[in-house]
Amino acid sequence: MAKQQTEDFMAMKGAGYYSRATIGAKHVMDNAAQLILDALDRQPPADDGSVFQMTDMGCADGGTSIDMVGRVLGDVRSRCPSRPIQMTYTDLPKTDFSALFQIIHGLTETQSYAAEIGDLYVSASATSFHRQIVPAGTLDLGHSATASHYITEIPAVIEDHVHMTRATGDVRAAFEAKGAEDWENFLLMRARELKSGGALALFNFGIDEEGRWLGHTGGVTMFDRFNAHWKAMAEEGRIAVEEYRRTNFPQVYRTVEQFTAPLTSPGAVQDAGLQLEHVETRVLRCPFAEAHEKGEYDSDAAFAKAYIPTLRSWSEPVFAAGLAGRPAAEISQLVDEFYGRYEAEVAADPTGHAMDYVHCYLICRKV
Ligand SMILES: C[S@@+](CC[C@H](N)C(=O)[O-])C[C@H]1O[C@@H](n2cnc3c(N)ncnc32)[C@H](O)[C@@H]1O
Repeated sequence: MAKQQTEDFMAMKGAGYYSRATIGAKHVMDNAAQLILDALDRQPPADDGSVFQMTDMGCADGGTSIDMVGRVLGDVRSRCPSRPIQMTYTDLPKTDFSALFQIIHGLTETQSYAAEIGDLYVSASATSFHRQIVPAGTLDLGHSATASHYITEIPAVIEDHVHMTRATGDVRAAFEAKGAEDWENFLLMRARELKSGGALALFNFGIDEEGRWLGHTGGVTMFDRFNAHWKAMAEEGRIAVEEYRRTNFPQVYRTVEQFTAPLTSPGAVQDAGLQLEHVETRVLRCPFAEAHEKGEYDSDAAFAKAYIPTLRSWSEPVFAAGLAGRPAAEISQLVDEFYGRYEAEVAADPTGHAMDYVHCYLICRKV
């Protein structure tokens, strides 16, 4: 059977669900906006009347990056009054781009920067970031947050888990090799797009120096709970064993060394003129767990009800894809049951449940 490509099925939950439920991803970008402003400061764009182009790659519905993008473009506008600004949002074809345009053009409750910045042109592309998205030499600032961990396809089946962070041996090696190949290609595509002096700001999910990753920071490991509930449904005959087996996240969480290797050692990326300007890792506390600790929910059940959608907003397509071939109504019923089981577990004992964000922040420059 031909391997399923990630772009054939991947999309965050639509109709604005993603950004409503995923406030933590917004915090990641809001907190790191200064890294981008500093990059603009180090090498200020000239006020030369040419088009200034920024991309947001893997933007989902655009709601989580909206304040960061507004701050950055506001800075560009004041530095370069003569330059038209082209803001290009990019994600995969199944993304709800209608939700994105409604958010950016101020048709929802989300406050948008779009009307406040003059000479601004917003468009979207449904081209994968594993390919070239904009013409060569036209990009001033390429941005991507919490997206580059999506690889083009699953390179091997993880038999007893859903995520590569728990894979071992040859299977782990296959994921890491695919992650390295896709990452180098991602950087080469950006090197082609960038103007000389242009910058990349990439805020990536990864594995930090202390071995932490998303939802694995000392408490309950989120991907283990995904796996436990999905496996239980297979053992109880609610889903087929083969459906459990083929449910693997098309993701690779890279270490800092894996992120920086193509930028710091001789090879195609350096030959293409891309250099590393800044790297750091950060852990951001899960906003739902934090609110629960502060007593902001009436009950553990209320916490669980608020918490599970932030996991569901991005993970649902993977579990739904594992059930491919079933009628849509059956898929949505089984997926509801799966998240319902996870919610019941958290409601019964919320201790240690938190989707803390672990990122590797990179600023690169085309020289
Ligand atoms: C977790 S969301 C992050 C959204 C937003 N950047 C944020 O930080 O909140 C990951 C996004 O990457 C997108 N994505 C995955 N693979 C992609 C690819 N090859 N090209 C473009 N977008 C991709 C997904 O569709 C999804 O919208």
